[in-house]
Amino acid sequence: MGAEVEILKLLKAGGGEYTSGQSLSSGLGVSRTAVWKHIGALRKMGYSIEASPSKGYRLNASAKGFNGVEVSSGLTTDFIGRKIHFYDTIDSTNKKAFELGRGGEVDGAAVLADSQTVGKGRIGRRWESPEGVNLYTSILLRPSILPQNAHNLIFVSAIATAEAVSLFSKARPIVKWPNDVLLGPLKVAGILMEMDSEPDRVHFVIAGIGVNINMRKSSFPEYIKETATSLFEERGSEVSRAEFAQALYSAFEKWYKIYFSLGFTHILEEWKRYFDAVGRPIRVTSFNNITEGICAGVDTDGALLVKAGSGNIERVISGDMESVK
Ligand code: BTN
Repeated sequence: MGAEVEILKLLKAGGGEYTSGQSLSSGLGVSRTAVWKHIGALRKMGYSIEASPSKGYRLNASAKGFNGVEVSSGLTTDFIGRKIHFYDTIDSTNKKAFELGRGGEVDGAAVLADSQTVGKGRIGRRWESPEGVNLYTSILLRPSILPQNAHNLIFVSAIATAEAVSLFSKARPIVKWPNDVLLGPLKVAGILMEMDSEPDRVHFVIAGIGVNINMRKSSFPEYIKETATSLFEERGSEVSRAEFAQALYSAFEKWYKIYFSLGFTHILEEWKRYFDAVGRPIRVTSFNNITEGICAGVDTDGALLVKAGSGNIERVISGDMESVK
């Protein structure tokens, strides 16, 4: 895949002009026959590339694909998404990333899919994952942290996703504790973190992120029609999923590095900028326990604080939060 990514970068740099076969072959250090084969592979992925015996190759820029090569060709990260496992369809990118993690895949590798047949949501829910419209990705992380601190990465993922969403939407995203991303009152992105660990050592963490990008409201299943939205619905125009993936991996890497260099306090400060529930009536369901009261913010660990009717502050470490009217 590396050679195809490099050819795509060179063709894009050509800006719609022809790039000679000679400059592609010397740029990549491969024969012109090899270049021809890679051009064939790119065409099979759906790229429209014109070939002229005297001038070389020209990319039809209007053809915007969604695949690992397209995402890689515009990626500026050091390690997040530098290796992409792309699937047209897969059961769940989280499941695949978990298998890859067990198999020793590198830190920062990402699984990306056009559709999922069994997309997993939090708390055993499903995640709607039709083809051709949304983003489903799982990032494999090998952090040197204790398992009890792994939940910090939920907040890293939330602000990275919110930042990427903000780059493509008119409205400023909101985070719903701990890591749903909303536009107005409607959910645009969800995050499912999974971990493989021993009691004192994290083997790896999977940050699974689903973002509704170009899905139309009319295509949402009935049960989420009133609670979900997409970037398209919010801004009224389509978003390139490849560009969104690039922005997401960049934002993820930025905040992940900040977490390790400056600590969780910086992550939490950023997260609070997206959190608007303080002072509002909320209900939190945690296992079979329901806590209702006024949201009093989060503590230094990111646990939710709820001021109950009695005046007591209750601390909730995991669960599902909803606003109460
Ligand atoms: C939620 O319930 O809000 C979390 C949804 C997480 C969905 C994403 S899509 C990519 C990754 N693969 C999955 O199976 N789930 C996550």
